[in-house]
Amino acid sequence: MKKTIFVTGGAGFIGSHLIRLLIGKYPEYRIVNLDALTYAGNLENLSDVESSPNYFLERVNILDVEALDALFDQYQPEGVIHLAAESHVDRSILSPMDFVFTNVIGTVNLLNAAKKKWAGNFEGKRFYHVSTDEVFGSLGETGFFTETTPYDPHSPYSASKASSDHFVRAYHDTYGLPTVVSNCSNNYGPNQFPEKLIPLFINNVIQRKPLPVYGDGLYTRDWLFVKDHALAIDKIFHEGLTGQTYNIGGFNEWRNIDIVKLLCGLVDEKTGRTTSSADELITYVKDRPGHDRRYAIDATKINKELGWSPSVTFEEGLSQTIDWYLANTEWLSHVTSGEYNSYYEKQYKGR
Ligand code: NAD
Ligand code: TYD
Repeated sequence: MKKTIFVTGGAGFIGSHLIRLLIGKYPEYRIVNLDALTYAGNLENLSDVESSPNYFLERVNILDVEALDALFDQYQPEGVIHLAAESHVDRSILSPMDFVFTNVIGTVNLLNAAKKKWAGNFEGKRFYHVSTDEVFGSLGETGFFTETTPYDPHSPYSASKASSDHFVRAYHDTYGLPTVVSNCSNNYGPNQFPEKLIPLFINNVIQRKPLPVYGDGLYTRDWLFVKDHALAIDKIFHEGLTGQTYNIGGFNEWRNIDIVKLLCGLVDEKTGRTTSSADELITYVKDRPGHDRRYAIDATKINKELGWSPSVTFEEGLSQTIDWYLANTEWLSHVTSGEYNSYYEKQYKGR
């Protein structure tokens, strides 16, 4: 075995795609998934790779310092790719402290465990922190986020991620921990929990439920297919420079309402519906507080320095994503029972 890598949050949306990629591409690595299995963690996301000989699962909360120390002792990892987080803005507005605990304190716990275990011998070690473009705040009509754009977070989610990014850089600057950070735009694709815009709306179109568009629907996001994010993480982990930050995005901006219409048309076409889901289901609802108007990533650095660029167009990726949800209704029904319904009520009732 050449290397042992901890992937935190590997049972979540992006983490599960990353684990599948790493297990297949690097059979000589031990890939250890550290995940608390919260509402967002789902082992069904990994059912096709769970019996791979180079895959290990440890159910652990990153708030548990002793358990983290014990896992570092047990596995002696050379690398950490840290994705575990509370990841949904609307939930951060409902319960910000969960985000402070996992995203800020959990990240610092992991930094401490790596620092302690690696004890100043950083040769061949790497701590990779996966973050978001939301730390940069909101853009006007023009311009892009670059790696040097000042942080200006507006939601409890983005504030907690910004804080964790600062801690990671502080551990590099203060203790010499060999860190690297990436800030990625909005992801979409198979296995995304149906609380985020695209899977929530696909599920609602399938169920013929209203599609709650916040505010005027003209908010803009820059969308990237999840498998392209996983490929970028692999590149940065292996080829990125220590202490650096890389922005990841597809130069692919869409206004929410345009995505919703495209998505409705595709689902109608694929399911042979003759009435328009867009006309029938789109419902404008009360806006999200602190709602960032526009995100757009300048991904020039990762493209020029590491040769990464997205492999699929948005239309192809969205079509594949819808096909996946239509073919995986069992997965959808498992994740939309129980806790999902009480969250949905709280978030959307009376909006
Ligand atoms: P997700 O919500 O789908 O998955 C999060 C995973 O972390 C789950 O498996 C969950 O069980 C685990 N987790 C949560 N709290 C934990 C804790 N205390 N201890 C251990 N495990 C815990 O998230 P995602 O969308 O896959 O995002 C992964 C990472 O990528 C996050 O750090 C997020 O900020 C970042 N990111 C996400 C996007 C996006 O569009 N989804 C874009 C850019 C960056
Ligand atoms: P989301 O997927 O929650 O990602 P983020 O807020 O992290 O960018 O939301 C994407 C966009 O879609 C954002 O502008 C909010 C909007 N949105 C809706 O209009 N309705 C919804 O029900 C959701 C979940 C999001």
